[in-house]
Amino acid sequence: MREVKTKAPGKLYIAGEYAVVEPGYSAILTAVDLFIHLSLTEAEGPGGTIYSAGFTDQPAKWQRIKNEIQLNTPAPALHYVLAAIQTTEAYVTDLGVPLKTYHLHLKSELDNDAGYKLGVGSSGAVTVAVVRGLLKFYNQAFTDELVYKLSVLAQLQLGVNSSFGDLAAITYTGWIKYTSFERETVRAFFEKHSVKETVETIWPKLTIERLAIPEAINFLIGWTGRPASSDQLVGAVQEKKQQSHQQYQYFLQESQTAVDQLAAALTQQNTEAMAAAIHKNRCALVQMGQETNVQIETPLLTNLCEIAQHHGGAAKTSGAGGGDSGIAFIFNEKKIAAVISDWQAAGITHLPLTIYQKSITT
Ligand code: PMV
Ligand code: MG
Repeated sequence: MREVKTKAPGKLYIAGEYAVVEPGYSAILTAVDLFIHLSLTEAEGPGGTIYSAGFTDQPAKWQRIKNEIQLNTPAPALHYVLAAIQTTEAYVTDLGVPLKTYHLHLKSELDNDAGYKLGVGSSGAVTVAVVRGLLKFYNQAFTDELVYKLSVLAQLQLGVNSSFGDLAAITYTGWIKYTSFERETVRAFFEKHSVKETVETIWPKLTIERLAIPEAINFLIGWTGRPASSDQLVGAVQEKKQQSHQQYQYFLQESQTAVDQLAAALTQQNTEAMAAAIHKNRCALVQMGQETNVQIETPLLTNLCEIAQHHGGAAKTSGAGGGDSGIAFIFNEKKIAAVISDWQAAGITHLPLTIYQKSITT
């Protein structure tokens, strides 16, 4: 029986959060070595199953009705999976490929034993794994750009508040600099065109650049335990940004400068410039949080940053903040153990993740 497998990593924001939600603004992200594993096995007969370990009690049965997958009983936990299936199958259909039935199986390392999310992006990894798995299953050639664009179109339909930078990091892997596309332009185009036409058109302002980092950079990830809803935090900032157009524009400018400086510093291995860029971005985020009344850097995240700085490092919140994780660049290798133990004493968990960079398109 034919079986296709793929996996998608977790992601981590390094810089540029919130500003990257605006078209033309950038963020730096990495992929990390925790994965969602997907397998697709060809089914015999008119239907198949979807099983997501930890999310569905048992395999959810589906039938194909008029080219669309329909679950026998609704399963809200499978929203992301279904959106990715529908989008990829619409694309494959546009190419004239007949659809098949299959058993789809997902297993995640991104949700830990206690069942709470580590904030490294399981919804994005699910989307990318399903898109890429189905393209392989239907024997279609693909590029990272195609996988990225299909993943975005799947999530656009779910109405999430996202820059979709996570999908870029998960698809391309390694260190990336991502610049947001004009969402409304793409959305409007998609309303009038097929999936195939939409992925083939140019998405204004989109750039995804893999950064060539010459040597391993020591950075630590600390988790402050309280996962935040990124969607809600981004929604709150978007609502309040109108209050002071000028302050918000200043934030966007500061963030972009910090991201550009960090990208240059990383590729040149200039640690002083890295620290300055991280600090600039941290200050911009804290100030914007105060102005919009959205707590991005919680007291424990402040603690996380101060401990890293005390040991000569540079740190900031990662992602939407409001709890969740922070990252710290540690320039003196000998200080790593001290940072981790001071974090631990403060109630911050060190997540021992490393950067994941795939070697081939799989
Ligand atoms: O908290 P995370 O890891 O989901 O990151 C959110 C980053 C934001 O810039 C705040 C939102 C986004 O989609 O870019
Ligand atoms: Mg988060």
